[in-house]
Amino acid sequence: MIKVQTILLALMMTASAQAQTLAPLSMGEGPGVRLPLYLDDSKPLEQRVEDALKRMTLDEKIAVIHAQSKFSSPGVKRLGFPDLWTDDGPHGVRPDVLWDQWEQAGQTNDSCVAFPALTCLAATWNPDMAYLYGTSLGEEALYRNKSVMLGPGVNIYRTPLGGRNFEYMGEDPYLASRMVAPYVQGLQSKGVAACVKHYALNNDEEYRHQVNVIVSDRALHEIYLPAFRAAVQEGGAWAIMGAYNLYKNQHNCHNAILLNKILKQDWGFDGVVISDWGGCHSTEEAIANGLDLEFGTWTDGLTMGATNAYDSYYLAEAYKRLIKEGKYTTRELDDKVRRVLRLFFRTTMNKKKPYGFLCSDEHYEAARRIAQEGIVLLKNESPTKGGTDKLLPLRKDVRVLVVGENAIKMMTVGGGSSSLKAQHEILPLDGILSKLNAQSSKLLYARGYVGDTIQSYNGVTVGRSLYETRTQAELTAEAVEKARQADVVIFFGGLNKSDFQDCEGHDRKQFELPYGQNELIEALVAVNPRLVYVNISGNAVAMPWADKVPAIVQAWFLGSETGTAIASVLFGDVNPSGKLPFTWHADLSQCGAHALNAYPGTWRTDHQVIDEEYKEDIFVGYRWTDLPAKVKKEKLRSALPLRSAKNPLFPFGHGKSYTTFKLGKLTADRKQLTADEKITFHIDVTNTGSRTGAETVQLYISDKKASVERPVKELKAFRKIFLQPGETKQVSFTIDRSALSFYDEQTSSWKAEPGEFEALAGTSAADIASRLAFNYQ
Ligand code: BGC
Repeated sequence: MIKVQTILLALMMTASAQAQTLAPLSMGEGPGVRLPLYLDDSKPLEQRVEDALKRMTLDEKIAVIHAQSKFSSPGVKRLGFPDLWTDDGPHGVRPDVLWDQWEQAGQTNDSCVAFPALTCLAATWNPDMAYLYGTSLGEEALYRNKSVMLGPGVNIYRTPLGGRNFEYMGEDPYLASRMVAPYVQGLQSKGVAACVKHYALNNDEEYRHQVNVIVSDRALHEIYLPAFRAAVQEGGAWAIMGAYNLYKNQHNCHNAILLNKILKQDWGFDGVVISDWGGCHSTEEAIANGLDLEFGTWTDGLTMGATNAYDSYYLAEAYKRLIKEGKYTTRELDDKVRRVLRLFFRTTMNKKKPYGFLCSDEHYEAARRIAQEGIVLLKNESPTKGGTDKLLPLRKDVRVLVVGENAIKMMTVGGGSSSLKAQHEILPLDGILSKLNAQSSKLLYARGYVGDTIQSYNGVTVGRSLYETRTQAELTAEAVEKARQADVVIFFGGLNKSDFQDCEGHDRKQFELPYGQNELIEALVAVNPRLVYVNISGNAVAMPWADKVPAIVQAWFLGSETGTAIASVLFGDVNPSGKLPFTWHADLSQCGAHALNAYPGTWRTDHQVIDEEYKEDIFVGYRWTDLPAKVKKEKLRSALPLRSAKNPLFPFGHGKSYTTFKLGKLTADRKQLTADEKITFHIDVTNTGSRTGAETVQLYISDKKASVERPVKELKAFRKIFLQPGETKQVSFTIDRSALSFYDEQTSSWKAEPGEFEALAGTSAADIASRLAFNYQ
């Protein structure tokens, strides 16, 4: 009530001053007080938007479409709209930076729970986990008064060198679509907007500002857009972030095709297009091509904190001038402002928002559950040749040697804009220590290699000290000596969030593990074959020693509960159930983009733009791996000779368990399908082992004959199912013709061609248990 009265008073006080420009107040009904219509939340959203719009001056309209600080844009004080605060995103709520600088503001109330990176979320293959992620993050954001979270990211994993793959959801458009929608819904259920990023084709981090992507319409629609579309149409995203790069020679933050045509016209997006920070380059393109809210523009003086720097944004004074000169009416401006007003009503002005919580027990539990479900057991064999005793899970009474910097390195800091100030982060070494039986076991540690000795990242201090002065030879000698004394060696390696690893701003320079880890692993396994390799990364890495190491675990960047989650899997308190959201190539030549020499592209002579042609087209990830050798050879004629014909190290969708599962025979409720019908497939899954566990059944569809080249198979449904030992459950999948369709470039629409199809059910892209033919008429 106080709020309403204050606003009314403010309205009356400014009414005379603004009289010429303001529409008369039209009051809505309300108990005891007459509210202006736009404040009456019993009225339809669009009426409130129109009413507010009518009351705004030109200056107010211009003000709400560009930033006023690094992460905020102004509301309309006169009308009672508060400032809009955004923040990164996507793994937790980023600590506050200074008003006009990237430096930490030094607050003491902006620590957060760090949730697992989005690759881990995708690896759960569990949409319920995505919803839980969204709601938990939303509550943290509310507490911190952030109304727009800059995430989630759904750019496709095109190459394992992608520096920001860890912030995304893998290589498959269907999996990413299923996971992004509930994340958005969960977050927005708290009255906090998702800002889905980076729309679109931001698959190259190294040259993200210069890349002009050349891609077929088919690959655009079949591979790179579906997750964004799902975020918008299924998730109902209220905001989307334009990407830095160019498509068809136009920057994506004001790209007519991507924003006006596809996003707004075809998909019916009614939310706000926000520029990536510094992604806007032209006032006129921004006016005409669909950008609604400009952030982070690197104008002169801005980095110096000049007081009026924000006036020189492309959508600020320059835009106002063009309107005043008569070059533009307010038609485009009003559309942008309507969208921003919608965002206000959905977030800052939403009176039904719940209260926020920061670092609650529930949020830690959510982070832990997601981490535990996302960890992928890549390999688990016996340390003795021909043995049947699998190395994992470990006993708690053994002498354990932990080797590796990643066992003691905080990973919630670093990596660029997703860096966090976690209230706590349990390191792998501490997680393991807490599991060991204090009386009968012993924990040894050896650093093994040095990757990063940084002690603080943008003002956030890392946990344990990473200071180290010993040489590599000394570090190796120590680790090898201790390995001889241990019952089991757990090596924590992989990448970290330093530049050129998993980090914003650059891509990786190599597929190989950095910092001499390969040599160290070889030396260790030679003296102690009971070696578990735990890989921390958001990308696949080369593992030339994979045959020699009996157990390999992919543990991503897991956030606050890293150590707890990993230890619970290693010691068997949790049965791993994660599945790879991307193909784990043995070497780069197995990846279409690299085999075809289509990364990173060709610089133009002026060295301003690099053209990156996605020559592999729709054949990304397993779609490339699946291609018959003959077809691949044909495609490779004009490119590099095929250096390797091996299978990937681990296929898409792969992940083991401590129990075993058996899939039955695939059946269907019909043999034929017409355009308006659905077909339902059934398959039994049995837990044939002795532990409770979860299997993810994957349904791929194969078009047997088509007028265009089609992937051998494509994921079109999946279900994660939890089973007790000996238990059998039936899993059902219902699909319609959309699962059979390709994007037809002739008609610019989706098309299913009549003919034979096959459904394939399996536990990874390479482990197909049962197939069933059906017909589409
Ligand atoms: C990143 C975005 C991020 C923004 C704000 C940009 O450099 O690309 O993902 O949300 O900065 O930190």
